[in-house]
Amino acid sequence: MPAKTTIAAKTTKTAIITAENVHKKYRLGRNNFVHALRGVNLEIDEGEFVAFMGPSGSGKSTLLHVLGCLDNIDEGTISINGSNVTHMSGSQLTKLRASQLGFVFQGYNLISVLTALENVSLAVEYASKISRKDRVKMSREALEKVGLGDRAKHKSSELSGGEQQRVAIARALVNNPRIILADEPTGNLDSQTSEEIMAMMRELNKRTGQTFVIVTHDPDVGKECDRIIRIKEPPTSIMSPEARKNRGVQPGSVEGATSISPG
Ligand SMILES: Nc1ncnc2c1ncn2[C@@H]1O[C@H](COP(=O)(O)OP(=O)(O)OP(=O)(O)O)[C@@H](O)[C@H]1O
Ligand SMILES: [Mg+2]
Repeated sequence: MPAKTTIAAKTTKTAIITAENVHKKYRLGRNNFVHALRGVNLEIDEGEFVAFMGPSGSGKSTLLHVLGCLDNIDEGTISINGSNVTHMSGSQLTKLRASQLGFVFQGYNLISVLTALENVSLAVEYASKISRKDRVKMSREALEKVGLGDRAKHKSSELSGGEQQRVAIARALVNNPRIILADEPTGNLDSQTSEEIMAMMRELNKRTGQTFVIVTHDPDVGKECDRIIRIKEPPTSIMSPEARKNRGVQPGSVEGATSISPG
């Protein structure tokens, strides 16, 4: 059977994110499913700058999505800032996401026909009833933080990959969330731009105490982090039939195991 996931509990600081025995299955029809997370346990302290690393398909994005309350779980408990989110209503979750969580998606998820400023200010609209003038001011400030003040009026389709990545980060920062969850924020960038983005996020983390959780495949990015949480096991679907049998995987199910150990 797959390894259970365990992270040594931390005792000195306050945990801002906790996951206990978290399971997530993606259903693919009646009998097939991908068991993407199997009993994940972790604690992340307020103000930590943490990396999730592991093979492709091991469940990193899935874990980030469920911690960011963007998707539900099948079993277990997730707490954000001391509140158990597992049984929160849709509107409670929307409020929590808007006020406490900033998310940088693996593929940016910008709206190509909108300008950088409009993309960022959409996130403010979702978060609160703020006047248009203040929304624009907040969005400009977020773009300036990521060094894109002079590109505010450019449509995102007119920006380079690195610039789009910065817009996506500005959008995650605009509501001043306590937690930023970033899925491969440097994944499509050259090494110099990647270093700049990392330095910018690190500086924010030091200055504001915001917690950063960053999914990355890049060991250089991992080295910049306080801690690496390793998501180890490759999905069973790429194992040999014999290995699948030995692990007790039923034919017809596709399983992806997630195993985490302290970095
Ligand atoms: N919406 C979905 N429906 C079905 N299966 C999914 C879905 N999203 C992810 N999966 C499966 O869940 C497993 C974990 O996927 P996930 O995207 O979390 O991996 P990852 O570690 O982020 O990979 P990568 O490094 O390639 O981004 C994979 O086996 C994937 O195929
Ligand atoms: Mg991913």
